[in-house]
Amino acid sequence: MRDETLTRVEQVARDAGALLLRYFRRPMAVSYKGVANLVTEADTASECLIRERLRTILPDAGFLGEEMGGEFRGVGRAWVVDPLDGTTNFAHGFPWFSVSIGLVEEGVPVLGVVYHPVLDELYSAQEHVGSFRNGTPLSVSTTRSLADALLTTGFYYHRGSELARQITLFEGVHQKVQTIRRPGSAALDLAYVAAGHFEAFWEQGLSPWDVAAGYLLVQEAGGRVSDYSGRPASIGGRETLATNGHVHDEMIRLLCEPRLHPA
Ligand code: IPD
Ligand code: CA
Ligand code: CA
Repeated sequence: MRDETLTRVEQVARDAGALLLRYFRRPMAVSYKGVANLVTEADTASECLIRERLRTILPDAGFLGEEMGGEFRGVGRAWVVDPLDGTTNFAHGFPWFSVSIGLVEEGVPVLGVVYHPVLDELYSAQEHVGSFRNGTPLSVSTTRSLADALLTTGFYYHRGSELARQITLFEGVHQKVQTIRRPGSAALDLAYVAAGHFEAFWEQGLSPWDVAAGYLLVQEAGGRVSDYSGRPASIGGRETLATNGHVHDEMIRLLCEPRLHPA
């Protein structure tokens, strides 16, 4: 049965999304967390709003947010939040970003909401209940072959040899599929696998706040989530492979091909 908490979290995500839109394409303070890793005043304002509001929903739950910290310990009950996923897009005025809120129990996502404010698309999932877009049930695509598949991926803020390794893998996968996109919000990549628009998403180096909600969306829509070797996904793990299930084993074989991992 649908939990009342989910409805309340959906409203928090909508309100955080509305806040982001008030900043979008307007002058705003931008700083750097790393060479290419931006943070804007909208990231922090969104996280403040979410943190305050979630505290009133479950006062005893822990909180891990990208901007203000906390720690992923994998025990007890905690919110895991990316207040703005797709900051680089946002800072450049490219309208592809989201708010991601997951509720995790003993390391396992039980509620998840991803909101795309520009399109007003609200993706939500509850363990054993299902995945939904604006209230309509979602299911993954039925495509069975990678040759017919549209994939999505991302590159963490790597440079140098690590980036070169990612590109080698990208090229290897590209040879086998219809084509690949790199939209720039991992939470939306996962939501779009859940909705059946992408057959698969892979990325290395994501953080718990990027995937806590999205993993549940994919699983509850009938898809599969693991690391590149097929081990069950953990939100604290460093490899993400999320698919419609039908192309999962083919993707594992591809991602593990030795020639795509030169020394
Ligand atoms: C990033 C986005 C991007 C992914 C990066 C993430 P941020 O999150 O999800 O798509 O490729 O790995 O860090 O920094 O915009 O919240
Ligand atoms: Ca993120
Ligand atoms: Ca973020």
